[in-house]
Amino acid sequence: MELIHGLFFIWVAVTIFILNSSNVEGRTHFHKKQKSNKENPVSQPPPYPPANPPDQNDPGNSSSDPCIFDVTSFGAVGDGSTDDTDAFRSAWKAACAVESAVLLAPSDYSFTITSTIFSGPCNPGLVFQLDGVLMPPDGPDCWPKGDSNKQWLVFYRIDDMTFTGSGTIEGNGEKWWELPCKPHRGPQGTTLPGPCDSPALIRFFMSSNLVVSGLRIQNSPQIHMKFDGCEGVLIEELSISSPKLSPNTDGIHLENTKSVGIYNSMIANGDDCVSIGTGCSNVDIENVTCGPSHGISIGSLGVHNSQACVSNIAVRNAFIKDSDNGVRIKTWQGGTGSVTGIAFENIQMDNVRNCIIIDQYYCFSKGCRNQTSAVFVTDVSFRNIKGTYDVRSPPMHFACSDTVPCTNITLSEVELLPAEGEMVDDPFCWNAYGTLETLSIPPITCLQDGEPLSYSERSIYDC
Ligand SMILES: *[C@@H]1O[C@H](CO)[C@@H](O)[C@H](O)[C@H]1NC(C)=O
Ligand SMILES: *[C@@H]1O[C@H](CO)[C@@H](O)[C@H](O)[C@H]1NC(C)=O
Ligand SMILES: *[C@@H]1O[C@H](CO)[C@@H](O)[C@H](O)[C@H]1NC(C)=O
Ligand SMILES: *[C@@H]1O[C@H](CO)[C@@H](O)[C@H](O)[C@H]1NC(C)=O
Repeated sequence: MELIHGLFFIWVAVTIFILNSSNVEGRTHFHKKQKSNKENPVSQPPPYPPANPPDQNDPGNSSSDPCIFDVTSFGAVGDGSTDDTDAFRSAWKAACAVESAVLLAPSDYSFTITSTIFSGPCNPGLVFQLDGVLMPPDGPDCWPKGDSNKQWLVFYRIDDMTFTGSGTIEGNGEKWWELPCKPHRGPQGTTLPGPCDSPALIRFFMSSNLVVSGLRIQNSPQIHMKFDGCEGVLIEELSISSPKLSPNTDGIHLENTKSVGIYNSMIANGDDCVSIGTGCSNVDIENVTCGPSHGISIGSLGVHNSQACVSNIAVRNAFIKDSDNGVRIKTWQGGTGSVTGIAFENIQMDNVRNCIIIDQYYCFSKGCRNQTSAVFVTDVSFRNIKGTYDVRSPPMHFACSDTVPCTNITLSEVELLPAEGEMVDDPFCWNAYGTLETLSIPPITCLQDGEPLSYSERSIYDC
């Protein structure tokens, strides 16, 4: 944890620096610092670089340009319709080969590119600077037949990269949302069968030391931004938005990803605001506004009897509004592994269904059979959770496994009132053990005392 805190401290320092610095040199210095940390531990610059840092390679010349690779110099047209894929690929190839390069997609242009994998390894300190608009082709009919329809922008095997800018990623998702295979989009509100793949807008895969900041990301055909197999991710000052009824448009999805900070961002969409899948640990979420959305979720975990491990997740100072869930842990029956060390703190709810929910019976249909194994949920705290709930569901719901109880749940300063209508003073608890530190509103009396599982019973669920 010490190391992680240290990392976050550096990230925060670096981020403050980036935000206060309008020139690109700041970023290149950050990355030089990263590099010198690895390769030359003797010459570490201070964590807070001076406001106007001299160029280390060129003392006295503070106006020297970093290597900028402007996509328009590589033939990108940016008129909103021309396919600029080749220009972006060439610019990437050139930028990737140089240390601290900037791939620039300038403002006042609207670029269209097809599904592309930007792969590394690249030289460290790469900045992908999007100041204009970047879009995929408009809907499934325009999607090239040979391209994957599961992903659009992919960053693969990249270490030490920043994706930033004042620009917008416009996902053109509308025609994907309306496919008749999406929920209730078929004739007369039916859902037609068949594969219904739609592209995730941005995917980081097997990459490390990433910063994503400042961008506006909207109308994704499916998940807006997804990280799998990554380590060291800082997400800052993002605005993600899609309509409330756009299917499966999760804001940020993490899977098998460690050491993540998500700060100061706004997310409005039609599915989970942030979702945290298996294999994630040390995730810190602070100052995030969600809504409309399906809230901040850990899970779903343990599908098809799989092992799932999630630990050390903190969500602080969040505002969740007009959402189907607030903060949620969801697991399928039959899984193994554990969810442990989860803190939800200082969360303001506004008209939210299921403000606080642990659901170990997660199931798409009604037909999931009861199983004895479950992902073990323990050491979860809910502190200072206040605001209003939508009375269609009880504001607190703990549905733990029959055979594997949830343990060490802490509730403190939970005060939830109906947004309108009658109070549902009927929190649900099933097989949940823990402590009520202060009386809650509505009152909850069903948390049980004690530690129901023996050491050897617990050890089955170790990760
Ligand atoms: C600064 O460096 C750049 C590129 O290295 C050069 O073109 C420019 O003339 C230099 N300016 C001064 C004032 O030395
Ligand atoms: C969250 O917001 C508060 C108030 O604006 C600010 O002081 C704090 O630094 C922010 N946290 C992060 C991690 O940026
Ligand atoms: C599964 O278990 C729950 C809780 O004990 C019970 O209410 C439900 O009827 C069971 N379902 C089946 C299909 O046996
Ligand atoms: C209960 O969980 C808290 C974190 O919410 C942790 O600090 C504490 O050590 C746990 N207690 C036990 C007895 O495991």
